[in-house]
Amino acid sequence: MAKLRILVVDDEPFIRAGIERILRNFRVDYPFMAEPFEFEIVEAATGEEGIDQIESNKPDIILLDNKLPGIQGVEVLEYVKKKKHDIVVVMITSYASLELAVKATADGAYDFIPKPFTPQELKSAIESITKHVFLVRMTKELQATGKQIRFQFLSVLSHELKAPLNAIEGYLRMMQEKQLGDQIDDYEQAIDRSMQRIKGMRTLILDLLDMTRIESGQKEKNIQELNLASIASSAIDTAKPIAIQKDVKMILKTSSDTTFLADSSEMEIVFNNLISNAVKYNRDGGSVEVFIEKLDDSVIIKVSDTGIGMAQEDLARLFQDFVRIKNEKTREISGTGLGLSIMKKVVETYNGKVDVTSTPDVGSVFTVILPIKAQ
Ligand SMILES: Nc1ncnc2c1ncn2[C@@H]1O[C@H](COP(=O)(O)OP(=O)(O)OP(=O)(O)O)[C@@H](O)[C@H]1O
Ligand SMILES: [Mg+2]
Repeated sequence: MAKLRILVVDDEPFIRAGIERILRNFRVDYPFMAEPFEFEIVEAATGEEGIDQIESNKPDIILLDNKLPGIQGVEVLEYVKKKKHDIVVVMITSYASLELAVKATADGAYDFIPKPFTPQELKSAIESITKHVFLVRMTKELQATGKQIRFQFLSVLSHELKAPLNAIEGYLRMMQEKQLGDQIDDYEQAIDRSMQRIKGMRTLILDLLDMTRIESGQKEKNIQELNLASIASSAIDTAKPIAIQKDVKMILKTSSDTTFLADSSEMEIVFNNLISNAVKYNRDGGSVEVFIEKLDDSVIIKVSDTGIGMAQEDLARLFQDFVRIKNEKTREISGTGLGLSIMKKVVETYNGKVDVTSTPDVGSVFTVILPIKAQ
């Protein structure tokens, strides 16, 4: 059983005893908690005594009356803040001094409980404080162990996989219950949609495999002299089916020499992602320009489009895992939000850099700079 220590600072003995009695056998459970929390109460009759208790007993939570004989509650609150103690402070105040309680909350108290309170009111306040303490601690712990990212990653991932599974299950149920008729033809659309969702999941899984390999450094590079122009040209071919549907023109411009020492599958990741995005997020009848230039010490790849563009504030998040910009213009466009983050990771393994500029409804320019290693 996990234990939280609550320090009650109040000059009225019956309040302290009452709180002790109410919380003595109280437990807080929460689905994510490994075990329920119970409470140990320590008491102080004055602010000065409270500060002594803070130092000697290290409480997790303080229930703090403001009107005390010596120093006031807010001064104890200030002390906790100044010492940067990791303690949740909750003010207990009479209704008359509600204004003060609001101020204390602004000064760093987590909440306040108006006096007089019923046992149930106290319990529900303690329950919400306990959950808060638990979540803060868990987040800290996950951050410290580097698991925070993993946790976020897995929760988004499971969400991404759950949605298509639910959809497919729905379509299968329609068939099982023969909701649309007895003929297989009646379900053509349901089958098509299910296939689409399966395709989406497969892409997601392949993307994840790419990403895990790159991140774990397990992916061995097969470095060869490549002609980047021909890799770009086959990425353009790959994007053609969608480009034709949207009537988007694709142009490739290069300097005369586009040779570069790299792994071809990784350069394919770079071009495929940039070009497929430039087509996907384009307007009907728009265009995409792919530009490759080899300089003395680097190769520059620039993919510009005449598409929907992005707002300035979205640009910074773009390269994070699973980030998709959600608005009216992107609502109908499908994707996993992994393409750019994978691409960036690849580029970074070559000590390269990715940059983007964009204007809403005008278009975007993605620039990749890959340094040429001194031989
Ligand atoms: N050329 C572009 N123009 C406008 N928005 C873009 C462009 N490229 C990317 N974006 C925005 O950035 C987001 C992230 O792109 P990213 O390629 O990582 O994922 P995605 O295209 O949604 O999915 P996928 O993993 O299938 O590529 C997109 O969802 C889109 O909102
Ligand atoms: Mg993409």
